[in-house]
Amino acid sequence: MKIDRKRPSQIQKGGLLELEIEDLAYGGKGIARFEGFVIFVRNGVPGDRVLARVTKRQKNHAEAEVEEILKPSPDRLEPPCPVFGCCGGCTWQNLPYDIQLTHKQKQAASLLQHIAGVTPDIVRPIIPSPVEWRYRNKMDYTFGTSNAGEPILGFHVPGRFWEILETPTCLLQSEPADRIVQSIIRWVREQGLSAYNQKTRQGFLRHLLIRHSVETDSFVVLLLTHEGELPDREGLVAALKEACPGLQGFVWGLNAGLADVARQDRELWSWGNPVLTERLGKYLFRVSPLSFFQVNTHAALKLYEVVCDLLGNDSADNRLLDAYCGTGSIGIFCSERVKEVVGIEIVREAIFDARENAARNGVANCTFLAGNMSETIHLAASIPGSGFGRIVMDPPRGGMDKRALRGLLALQAPVLIYVSCNPSTLARDIVSIVEAGYHPTVMQPVDLFPQTYHIETVLRFEKNV
Ligand SMILES: C[S@@+](CC[C@H](N)C(=O)[O-])C[C@H]1O[C@@H](n2cnc3c(N)ncnc32)[C@H](O)[C@@H]1O
Repeated sequence: MKIDRKRPSQIQKGGLLELEIEDLAYGGKGIARFEGFVIFVRNGVPGDRVLARVTKRQKNHAEAEVEEILKPSPDRLEPPCPVFGCCGGCTWQNLPYDIQLTHKQKQAASLLQHIAGVTPDIVRPIIPSPVEWRYRNKMDYTFGTSNAGEPILGFHVPGRFWEILETPTCLLQSEPADRIVQSIIRWVREQGLSAYNQKTRQGFLRHLLIRHSVETDSFVVLLLTHEGELPDREGLVAALKEACPGLQGFVWGLNAGLADVARQDRELWSWGNPVLTERLGKYLFRVSPLSFFQVNTHAALKLYEVVCDLLGNDSADNRLLDAYCGTGSIGIFCSERVKEVVGIEIVREAIFDARENAARNGVANCTFLAGNMSETIHLAASIPGSGFGRIVMDPPRGGMDKRALRGLLALQAPVLIYVSCNPSTLARDIVSIVEAGYHPTVMQPVDLFPQTYHIETVLRFEKNV
């Protein structure tokens, strides 16, 4: 085996390097240095000495894969999942949970410090998830085809998005959900159904969504297919019920879109009750199959307690704008802390849930508006009242689009609370928020995603006086 002993300038794709992993980068890769030149090493754990194969060479850094662990880090764990390393899902299974938390804390703080100038004194210690495994209440699978030509269910292979990695069990979701996956696969094979092929646009089965309520321990399954006929639907539901007695609803929906995303154009058939009920604190929430709900119910409660706390003790006379409100959960959860809540959300089904949720919890001070944030913000501003004293914004991973952010900042609320699941887009948006005359006063990371590198962060901003 030939190990490269070249200078960094001579490092090439395919070369083999002996490296010490020093740290973890945001995104989950190990960081090593070869004579000062940075190399991101997939599956490298800080403290490992490894032989790594260079997979990509850029001007200022390279990427590599561990080929052999020469001396394992004392922190390295044997990952429990059989597809660890091939699946892009939980890349930190090989690290103890307390070390995962240390890295998340450090990464969130340093990213925001470097890009957005957030000072370390406002960063609070990360709040751990109360549950470390099998915490996900929603899982989204894609159908693919095995080498033997049979349908399989699993996740996209990282870097090769047209390929599906078969995952009959996933340690992030509950065990009955694993049984649903195995049962569906058996059934579609018995029926001779085919998986949809994204390249040829042929085939039938596209996505499977499994949702779980921790409160009622019930499940809803959403099967999305291309055009075609789903045979013996009652037989399918009976098989799923046998695998998972907590199944409360099943929906078969059409997804005729070109993009490889789990969306439903039209409901084709359903059984049972497809709307779950979930609890956060004293509030119960209805969650329709396609509405957003925080995927880790246990940790979501911690997150919402933080948001509520960051509204401040002086929030009682304020109106709260719950921007990107989903099923209205943050606004309703915080409704007793403010005079009035206005929520905005693009998914109509979620807004229907939000209105029902306010009513079923006896919360009378919430109004919810359906629409795209950048186009609907002016409607919120025109509702009679005395402006917004508090804005909570909880956008999707891509962060806020410029128009939406401009619209929210134009409301001149004295306090903003930004809830983010992506520190990179958060850092970008902080720069605009600070330019608009705000300064961050608290940064609170909360771990919603154990075993993965993903970080949830809450920031409180106050308007400069
Ligand atoms: C991270 S989720 C937060 C939901 C809610 N705050 C919660 O805690 O459950 C982001 C939400 O933004 C919604 N969304 C995405 N793009 C949007 C847009 N352009 N305008 C309004 N809402 C949008 C999504 O449908 C989703 O419900």
